Amino acid sequence: MLAACGGDPVFGEDTGSTCPPTDPPTYASFGQGFMQTYCLDCHSQLQTGDARQGAPVTIDFDTRSLVRENTSRIDQQAAFGPTARNRLMPLDGHLPVPSDDERVRLGEYIACEIGR
Ligand code: HEC
Repeated sequence: MLAACGGDPVFGEDTGSTCPPTDPPTYASFGQGFMQTYCLDCHSQLQTGDARQGAPVTIDFDTRSLVRENTSRIDQQAAFGPTARNRLMPLDGHLPVPSDDERVRLGEYIACEIGR
């Protein structure tokens, strides 16, 4: 009975990323474009019903404040860092998929958003 039912969330681990002192990624320089390219196909307030491809209606990343509401979840689903390499999202390898370097940058960006 351990097999996941379709749509059950799988949880990754905290990446332990930190915000780099030099050239820290911001929403404008990184977060917005990353979400647009890799996540908003499903996690957007503009997507309804089947177009969400199963993404929970409570998990959207259209704006910086929505991203900031979900920082630790985003880190645990999609980012790379010193303590974890998470590839749970985009779901099932939905294309395009971020590169490893982009996942590291995502971890740094999230760390900057939460002041870590
Ligand atoms: C093809 C559609 C799709 C794309 C693209 C996608 N997701 Fe998801 N996402 C889902 C579905 C379906 C779920 C709910 C089932 C699950 O958690 O596995 C989900 C759940 C989540 C959750 C909630 C997990 C929890 O903590 O409950 C987060 C956070 C998340 N996704 C982040 C992302 C991020 C970040 C990206 C972009 C890198 C992304 N997703 C891209 C479909 C998608």
